[in-house]
Amino acid sequence: MAANRHLHHHHHHHHHHNADYHQILLHLLLLLSLITTLASSASASAPAPARVPAIIVFGDSTVDAGNNNGIGTMLKSNFRPYGRDFAGGPTGRFCNGRIPPDFISEAFGLPPLVPAYLDPAYGIRDFARGVCFASAGTGLDNATSDVLKVIPLWKEVEYFKQYQQRLRQYVGLARAKYIVSEAIYIVSIGTNDFLENYFLYITGRFAHFSVGEFEDFLVGLAAEFLTEIYRLGARKIVFAGLSPMGCLPLERTTNILHGGECIEEYNAAAREFNAKLQHMMEELCAALPGLKLRYTPVYDSLDSIIQNPSAYGIENVAEGCCATGKFEMGYLCNEKNPCTCPDADKYLFWDAFHPTEKVNRLMANVTLQTSMKEFL
Ligand SMILES: *[C@@H]1O[C@H](CO)[C@@H](O)[C@H](O)[C@H]1NC(C)=O
Ligand SMILES: *[C@@H]1O[C@H](CO)[C@@H](O)[C@H](O)[C@H]1NC(C)=O
Repeated sequence: MAANRHLHHHHHHHHHHNADYHQILLHLLLLLSLITTLASSASASAPAPARVPAIIVFGDSTVDAGNNNGIGTMLKSNFRPYGRDFAGGPTGRFCNGRIPPDFISEAFGLPPLVPAYLDPAYGIRDFARGVCFASAGTGLDNATSDVLKVIPLWKEVEYFKQYQQRLRQYVGLARAKYIVSEAIYIVSIGTNDFLENYFLYITGRFAHFSVGEFEDFLVGLAAEFLTEIYRLGARKIVFAGLSPMGCLPLERTTNILHGGECIEEYNAAAREFNAKLQHMMEELCAALPGLKLRYTPVYDSLDSIIQNPSAYGIENVAEGCCATGKFEMGYLCNEKNPCTCPDADKYLFWDAFHPTEKVNRLMANVTLQTSMKEFL
């Protein structure tokens, strides 16, 4: 409206006077300032564009988008009923639908899925906006990834280096540098170090470390990993704390002599690890210039659902939706089992180890509102 009136005004003057040079110049200047004002007020009312060119993911099954599909492990989920509530069907995500990085990517205006680096359906064109190096079953400790023959964390970092080379070839040096330094890094790892390794007694770690010493060992490995990706250019990193892992259905099942209650020993280890992790992260932030390293409070968020499921519209927090819900995951959670629940939204867990899509969406929201708040 204002612009129209001004143009009309300009026309009117032009018509009735001899258009001398100064008048034209004055009108041009007025018009210019009007346009500049309009443009700046428009950008002031809209949210500032997010400076997040990509989401880059490291970790385990909580964030694996399907890297295990193509490797020689037994730990896979690229078959139904995994992916049951997902338009494209099974993907290798350990869920009935999407996982937290997918929802987070979407919230930043990036694609609704963060693709697995080893998925042949995607290429560097996709990975330039989001890439997942995570592998279900892996851990901070090399001994953890050995248990189920999955991708060790050091190999995820090797893939990250290879990715950067491909990125430089695809978008050029300057843009690649920008993407790597402005991307948000999501790291979710550590559960398997306790549940597939330390507490399973099969790797021998339990014989060499007390629980407290093992926590210190893992936190040291996390610090090494974070320093390494910082050295490779990462600056905005969110690290998920451990969940109340003694409450996973599989762990409750092993606690059957105690009525299938949560295993408090495991939950205590998770809380203690989380405290040590946060302390280390603060120290790392102080030591590495420009590093923004933030902690996601997964423990408290999941605990809140377990304590008060009805507040979230959830009816079952003790068993997974898939099959009997007591121990099945991977190949044991398959289409042949008739017990799988009809509505996964009523469950905290999809299989005996992994949350439902509903809870993943919730966890993405928690992440966006806590550790990622300043990046939005
Ligand atoms: C894990 O294995 C890699 C590859 O063999 C090795 O470079 C790294 O030092 C190992 N890490 C630890 C803590 O042993
Ligand atoms: C997550 O946040 C979005 C946007 O604020 C909202 O629409 C959605 O209902 C939230 N989901 C959950 C499960 O809290």
